[in-house]
Amino acid sequence: MTTYLVTGGAGFIGSNFIFHLLERYPQARIVCLDALTYAGNLSTLAGVMERENFRFVRGSVTDREAVFALFQEERPEYVVNFAAETHVDRAIESPGVFLETNILGTQNLMDACRQYGVERFHQVSTDEVYGDLPLDRPELLFTEETPLCASSPYSASKAAADLLVQAYVRTYGLPASISRCSNNYGPYQFPEKLIPLMIANALADRPLPVYGTGENVRDWLYVADHCKAIDLILHRGRAGQVYNIGGHNEMRNIDIVRRILACLHKSETLITFVKDRAGHDLRYAIDPAKIHRELGWLPETRFAEGLEKTIDWYLAHRDWWEQIVSGEYRAYYQRMYGGR
Ligand code: NAD
Ligand code: TYD
Repeated sequence: MTTYLVTGGAGFIGSNFIFHLLERYPQARIVCLDALTYAGNLSTLAGVMERENFRFVRGSVTDREAVFALFQEERPEYVVNFAAETHVDRAIESPGVFLETNILGTQNLMDACRQYGVERFHQVSTDEVYGDLPLDRPELLFTEETPLCASSPYSASKAAADLLVQAYVRTYGLPASISRCSNNYGPYQFPEKLIPLMIANALADRPLPVYGTGENVRDWLYVADHCKAIDLILHRGRAGQVYNIGGHNEMRNIDIVRRILACLHKSETLITFVKDRAGHDLRYAIDPAKIHRELGWLPETRFAEGLEKTIDWYLAHRDWWEQIVSGEYRAYYQRMYGGR
């Protein structure tokens, strides 16, 4: 039986990836290692907890002994690392934990992979490692050859981890791959990120805080399409390679916010322009030619359809996110937006 170790599987993309694996490979064993930080939510995995071929382990990738003990016990063939601190605004407030989890956590996992041997270690990275692109040069896109040029402590920690993965490939021959994806949206995304935050605020008739002028551009991909791309890279992608993942779906923040309001039949007077994020990246845009050429991957979900599905999901799962917005998140929201 093939064993997959998925770290950070109680978070947004990791949980969607676990659901994908369980459906696609019903014979496989899936082990999820997650520290359950504020961003990890065990209720997300409630529907699969009782499956015989699924195991949840609470633990941190920064706990080297625990990581090695888990490898000793489970001997995974495939390791997919989603575990990370992921929110740029939190990284601006307190960068330390981003360096510990995102860099040293990755090192621990790779050292365990070297000791126990794996078919593949896959590092889930982000297009943010490339820095940003100008708004007035639409022809410019990030390719796998674009130099790393991180702007925030979050993206710097992800870039550092990417460099470490490449160093382990070259120095120790670790069979590792890296994917750099654009912004994801879909079910189970923590409501501190743009799309779920705006849905939650609109539903509560609260102001929708748009940073700066709202002209910053992100390249949006439905989470299920990201999961399929990682599956392909894991099994058919070349070790030692980087693959960009994105769907040519660039949108200005303000246009996304307006669409959400329109879908929910809410007034645009809820839009409130607030102080810009420090170091705010202007534009991200992925060139996905390599993954298309080598692995035949293409996004399947159009943005209008994906956004509608996402909004429907948040409407149908109020209990999931209302629990979150009433907890630690409330204090965070006050700190982040109170004086803005
Ligand atoms: P998320 O914040 O929703 O989830 C992160 C998960 O990691 C949580 O379950 C959390 O409990 C867990 N975690 C945090 N620290 C840990 C630790 N020390 N040990 C074990 N688990 C820990 O994040 P996400 O949006 O699902 O992102 C997953 C990965 O994908 C990240 O590596 C991120 O950099 C990358 N990524 C995200 C996006 C996006 O748009 N969300 C885009 C591209 C890449
Ligand atoms: P976010 O979801 O935090 O993702 P990232 O910064 O990693 O791309 O933010 C997406 C965009 O939305 C980004 O340009 C910042 C902007 N934004 C707002 O305007 N208001 C908000 O309240 C948030 C959370 C983000």
